[in-house]
Amino acid sequence: MKRIALLLLFFMTLWAGSPIEAQQEPPIIPLPADFSLNDGNFLLDREVAIRFPNELASEAAYFRQELFRRTGIPVITRFGTASRIELELDSELRDAYRLSITPGLIRLIGAGTDQVHHGLVSLIQLAESYMGDKQVAVIPSWQIEDRAGYGWRGLMLDESRFFFGVKKVKQILDYMSYYKLNRLHWHLTDSPGWRIEIKKYPKLALVGGIGDHHDPNKPSAFYTQEDIKDIVRYAAERKITVIPEIDMPGHATAANRAYPEFSGGGSARYPEFTFHPGKEGTYAYLTEVLQEVNTLFPSGMIHLGGDEVSFGNEKWATDPYVTRLMQREGLADLKAVEDYFIQRMADSVLNMGSKVLAWDEMADATLSKTQSIIFWWRHDKPEQLELALKNGYATVICPRIPYYLDFVQEEFHQFGRKWAGAFAPLRAAYEFSVDDLSISAGLPKDLILGLQANLWTETVHTSQRIDFLLFPRIAALAEAAWTPELLKKYDNFMLRLDSHLPRYEQDGIYFYHPRQPEYHPEPVYRP
Ligand code: ACM
Repeated sequence: MKRIALLLLFFMTLWAGSPIEAQQEPPIIPLPADFSLNDGNFLLDREVAIRFPNELASEAAYFRQELFRRTGIPVITRFGTASRIELELDSELRDAYRLSITPGLIRLIGAGTDQVHHGLVSLIQLAESYMGDKQVAVIPSWQIEDRAGYGWRGLMLDESRFFFGVKKVKQILDYMSYYKLNRLHWHLTDSPGWRIEIKKYPKLALVGGIGDHHDPNKPSAFYTQEDIKDIVRYAAERKITVIPEIDMPGHATAANRAYPEFSGGGSARYPEFTFHPGKEGTYAYLTEVLQEVNTLFPSGMIHLGGDEVSFGNEKWATDPYVTRLMQREGLADLKAVEDYFIQRMADSVLNMGSKVLAWDEMADATLSKTQSIIFWWRHDKPEQLELALKNGYATVICPRIPYYLDFVQEEFHQFGRKWAGAFAPLRAAYEFSVDDLSISAGLPKDLILGLQANLWTETVHTSQRIDFLLFPRIAALAEAAWTPELLKKYDNFMLRLDSHLPRYEQDGIYFYHPRQPEYHPEPVYRP
């Protein structure tokens, strides 16, 4: 009987395969780069003290707050107790953190403050996973040495179509930090609304902020400069850099409602879509706008957009100022005018000491090789990625499929995008790998900075729809951008993800449940 049971267990093990393997993985998303498990446990309870050098005071404070919020365990700072957590810096660790858990002592060493933060987030996830019922986490002796696969692990949020406000953005930042994402690309201006206060040009927010993707008369909504500072500070505490996008010369309709004297016109479908490239005043105006923006964001990066200009630059073809510009500068066609415009504005940004970021339409505009970053988004145009690399630009990979999160994640989902039946399932967001892109031999792949997902909001008018589209694909993106390809296994990821879903629930997040798609019905989009 016993032999039969053993045999059965053996075959069940073979059959189950990955769950057994997954037990050897620490319950952390993204999965660490290197780990092993020793005997013994660390008891994390209200008696545990944390010890740290002054340079790590804010990391320790964040850890204590976040651990308490998530587990109810109040780690103390008084010394002399039996069990403790010790934080250290050691630059020899080169971009990594080392988390060593032993009975009575957790040692966390990070190469810098970012790495210490990453280690603390891993520790919080461990504490949550091994939580007993009496405010005690019994954490096995994991030995972890971990570093990010990519330096750029980004998320873009479009708040022009719909405005979500400080509280929602902070919740997103909380979860970016939880998953070690480190770049929030904030799409603050576009046709429906301008969402950032500019003191020198107050009508940009007051007038340009009126309306959204549904209702052109919706009262003005925008972030004040105080709001922006608050968000930037909050993000910095979580080791996240915030990068503003001020889209130009297209997608400028909202700005042009405020200051029509700088409009370059549009097309029937996209009226007043562009800034005017033929008037000198436009460059001075936008430079002043960007100067204000640049002082609000310590990232030292401004995204200038540069996308889809041809949607609405029809008027340029017959505008006498543009004709004169083309003659004066020897510009052959309207694409050359676009590139000229971006080059001029890029010069302004470079003069402020900041880098210029742009969508892949700008992959062959002549920009600074060392101070520009191109965002490859058109998955159906791999030649744009090749062009960016060939031209020597640092590049962020954010292909529509699978990383435009307004694409649905199930065939049967009705609201949100599908492209000729193609959509963006959780598995695709997880399994995406730069190694699978066909990039010609000889192109410098080391210019690829990392991965980013973009949440465009044409079909995202509520906080519920944000949640449903973002969770849990945010976790899949994080692992794709962090974890070595050899360790990525979707089934194992799903097992680790299972325990994160109740945490979303606890935070009031209306997530998509990949195992029970009806758990939260797809939130309706009402145009
Ligand atoms: C884009 O999706 N227009 C960058």
